[in-house]
Amino acid sequence: MNILLIGGGGREHAIAEGIKKSKHNPSLYAVMAKKNPGIAALCEDFLLEKETEVEKIVEYAKARKVEMAFVGPEAPLAAGAADALWEAGVLVVGPKKACAVIEFDKAWARNFMKKYGIEGCPAYEVFTEEGPAHAFIEKLGDVAVKPSGLTGGKGVKVMGDQLPDLEAAKAYTSELLEKGPVVIEERFIGEEFTLQAFVDGKNLAYFPAVQDHKRAYEGDLGPNTGGMGSYTDAGEILPFMLPEDIEKAKKIMQDTVRALYEETGKETGSGYQGILYGQFILTANGPKVVEFNARFGDPEAMNVIPLIETDFVEVMAAVANGTLDKLPVRFSRKATVCKYAVPAGYPDNPEKDSEVVVGDIGKASLYYASVYEKEGKVYTTGSRAIAVVGSADTIASAEEIAQRALENIKGNLFFRKDIGTADLIQKRIDHMKELRS
Ligand code: GLY
Repeated sequence: MNILLIGGGGREHAIAEGIKKSKHNPSLYAVMAKKNPGIAALCEDFLLEKETEVEKIVEYAKARKVEMAFVGPEAPLAAGAADALWEAGVLVVGPKKACAVIEFDKAWARNFMKKYGIEGCPAYEVFTEEGPAHAFIEKLGDVAVKPSGLTGGKGVKVMGDQLPDLEAAKAYTSELLEKGPVVIEERFIGEEFTLQAFVDGKNLAYFPAVQDHKRAYEGDLGPNTGGMGSYTDAGEILPFMLPEDIEKAKKIMQDTVRALYEETGKETGSGYQGILYGQFILTANGPKVVEFNARFGDPEAMNVIPLIETDFVEVMAAVANGTLDKLPVRFSRKATVCKYAVPAGYPDNPEKDSEVVVGDIGKASLYYASVYEKEGKVYTTGSRAIAVVGSADTIASAEEIAQRALENIKGNLFFRKDIGTADLIQKRIDHMKELRS
């Protein structure tokens, strides 16, 4: 079977590895903007092209007689890559544009949650004008400010150290309004977690919960990034969660998929098919929805894909054919810690075209992200460069494996030592205890 992967980041390297592990021995092809050496090594052939060039993607898929495709990032989904591949007779994992809108239009997503009465939606309003937006900020008093469109996870700012007071929230809103609509919503207080699921239109197969770390520096300080690293525990919940928290989050995801079917079924024929990513914040009153994404998280994909015990290609086919209810998706009960090495100066002033040399990474797995290969050497592009993942019976052992591996990756890079450490996890547990008491 010929499979096409769209995307060239760390997340897609993990997807490529999952596909290549299949007992069906698929031939893998890829479309990526830059040559990711990890993905290239797993492919028969690849096309270096912008991942939003839908016509070129379809042309390439036809030329390589592709039967099934996995769309990794959000940008090609927003450009209609899934729709065009389905039209060309390819089975696709990745929602059609009418469903992917849940990620690329934050105003649509909130209005949709409200329309269908989906739990976990904050008080919010969508604005195109400064005056009413400023008045709403005053009224709520503690807000999150979100540009409605795609920003690579870096556009949302919340009150606290990012927006120290109401005046800062208003000023940021005014800046964003020059580019498009802005969603202002009530700020939730709690611990963030990610719940991802395979979705076949109606049925969901949930991955273990993951916690990502958005801030660039240790102690959750510094600017927002795409995510500096993440961990799972050896089971489906995280150490600061209760079993009922994950059940509530699963219900929100299930209700969302059902509502997406109702909303788009006529247009899409099948509803939402792909990976649904729920970004939750666990508050004293249970999980609330920060946002939905229409794809795997990055880095979260690298934690959970290696845990899948069921054949990845069979799961892809079940997603595309609407038969997930007939295929139990199993995961190994291991804890994982993923850490990104990023270029010096990331994210505001990152060093580009700087060589990275990978030494002995021991038992860790390595995923190439925003790097490119030239004459056998690997260079940074300015974004997150290389991720390593430790996997073990406990978070502490997984963290040690990841940490040791990172010490043997040389280059002008930095990473967060604190992700997955006992101290940081205890801080999360204490925070939730305090909120619940
Ligand atoms: N790690 C955050 C995201 O993928 O959106």
